Amino acid sequence: MNAKEIHRLLDKTFAEIIASFPAAPSNLYDPLRYALSSGGKRLRPFLVMSSAGLFSENISPAVPSAIAVELFHNFTLLHDDIMDNASLRRGNPSVHVKWNTNIAILSGDALYTEAFRQLGRSPENVLKELTEIFSATSLHVCEGQQMDMDFEKKNNISIAEYLRMIELKTAVLLAACLEMGAVAVGAEKKEAEKLSGFGKHMGIAFQLKDDILDVYGHSEKFGKQPGGDIVSNKKTFLLLKAYELANRYQKEELQNWTQAGAKHAEEKVIAIKNIFDSLEVRRHAEKEMRAHYEKGIVTLESVKADKEKITALRKFADDLMNREY
Ligand code: IPE
Ligand code: IPE
Ligand code: MG
Ligand code: MG
Ligand code: MG
Repeated sequence: MNAKEIHRLLDKTFAEIIASFPAAPSNLYDPLRYALSSGGKRLRPFLVMSSAGLFSENISPAVPSAIAVELFHNFTLLHDDIMDNASLRRGNPSVHVKWNTNIAILSGDALYTEAFRQLGRSPENVLKELTEIFSATSLHVCEGQQMDMDFEKKNNISIAEYLRMIELKTAVLLAACLEMGAVAVGAEKKEAEKLSGFGKHMGIAFQLKDDILDVYGHSEKFGKQPGGDIVSNKKTFLLLKAYELANRYQKEELQNWTQAGAKHAEEKVIAIKNIFDSLEVRRHAEKEMRAHYEKGIVTLESVKADKEKITALRKFADDLMNREY
């Protein structure tokens, strides 16, 4: 299957999933329909299917994994937007804003449950391994999300700690997608592990890009509230690098804005962005992003599979690094 065919299959599959949700209670299921039809990139299920396609012409054993990772991803977003106090998602009001926080919590729980139910439809011979990868990954994402929140209140976070945090909250899931696709079609363990390695490095690069877009992206394209990370004192690479490079006055200004919390949010975003610009932290973040990405590509290219398919996956990853949303 080529990229277009995979996307077509995914569209059809998710349309069926959405149609299968019960009508009532509507406050439970409407948010699921809303989240799943709001136009995400469907990156994770695409990775599952592409990875499976490297090793087998028949990628149908990977379909339950593909569904599961996208449901799981959307569940994390419902809860993440509550935790990040983020009111905009994919250009629309977040679920907790459109409905309320309790509804977003419970709809998230329902998505999480549905994710495991769908995964359970995997072929028997690979189900145990897939469940192990998926549950271990879920727990890692929780760890990463907790670190992300803890870091908001801390001021001595190192870049190494930041990288570990984004590895957990974001990269492990991309790694799991690629590994699960390979495992589902019975690829050799060594090859599945290489794909996981590719996913981990690419995932770190992907989150660095997300952090860059949070400051520099166009809100209409990016679909999230611009400067949201700055307002909530997220310890992104950009902020940590700014602290590292700042002179005494800039450091003081950064600290004052941190203490201001979400007060004067617009002014805060402008002021911190000015400091970022004068210290050229965006350039540093892009350099870091590319370094992780390159590592990932080296790992990808060591995978024993059809060269053309590897190239197609690489092309997809390249586009992801250059994305604007
Ligand atoms: C957003 O992921 C959350 C991060 C890990 C940065 P995506 O950028 O893949 O979100 P959608 O599904 O395409 O909206
Ligand atoms: C994404 O982190 C991690 C998870 C959702 C697990 P972010 O908080 O940066 O994601 P966005 O920017 O809200 O999509
Ligand atoms: Mg968020
Ligand atoms: Mg978050
Ligand atoms: Mg973000």
